Amino acid sequence: MVRAFVRRTDREALRLRFGQAADFADDSTLKRFFGIKDKIGEMIWMLDEDGAVCGILHRVQISPTQAEIAVIVRSDRARRGIGRALLRTAVSRAASKDLKRLNALVLSENIVMLRLARSLGFVPRKSFGLAVELELDLGLGQTIGCSTGTASAAACAPTDLT
Ligand SMILES: CC(C)(COP(=O)(O)OP(=O)(O)OC[C@H]1O[C@@H](n2cnc3c(N)ncnc32)[C@H](O)[C@@H]1OP(=O)(O)O)[C@@H](O)C(=O)NCCC(=O)NCCS
Repeated sequence: MVRAFVRRTDREALRLRFGQAADFADDSTLKRFFGIKDKIGEMIWMLDEDGAVCGILHRVQISPTQAEIAVIVRSDRARRGIGRALLRTAVSRAASKDLKRLNALVLSENIVMLRLARSLGFVPRKSFGLAVELELDLGLGQTIGCSTGTASAAACAPTDLT
């Protein structure tokens, strides 16, 4: 499923997500970039009407109260509200798990993601070279809704990524 997602996603989108232009041709690279260790995080994905993955959000716990998130939308499904819906779902799930803060490391050039995150309440905290660390304080009582259109979101810690 993830392999098909990568095939239909631009190299530029993958670069913006992972900070480098990796070659996703083999299973070990796919696992390294898309895999997630059980118990420290989860993967939230959205399916299109054909049941194919059209957006993926990772959440990785970095402390008992804090987690880092990163999102990518399949290029042929961009600009249809999927990124926003995944982020809203992630915020809502994080709050329900009693997390206090969510962070996202975003390349400074990634204006689309910076704007989107900001519109959901994330604020810039620090700069790391070419990237900016954004933070959302979940204690501030964001009002979160989830609008997923015809697609549906699901979360789990997958073992089979191919
Ligand atoms: C960033 C990303 C996840 C956004 O997902 P998306 O599903 O295309 O975004 P949405 O349709 O939910 O749109 C969210 C907002 O961004 C705007 N937007 C999305 N793509 C845009 C583009 N290429 N140019 C300008 N604005 C854009 C939308 O207009 C919308 O704004 P609005 O709500 O004010 O109208 C997607 O572009 C992506 O996968 N980028 C590559 C990977 C990446 O950058 N990940 C972030 C690293 S953490």
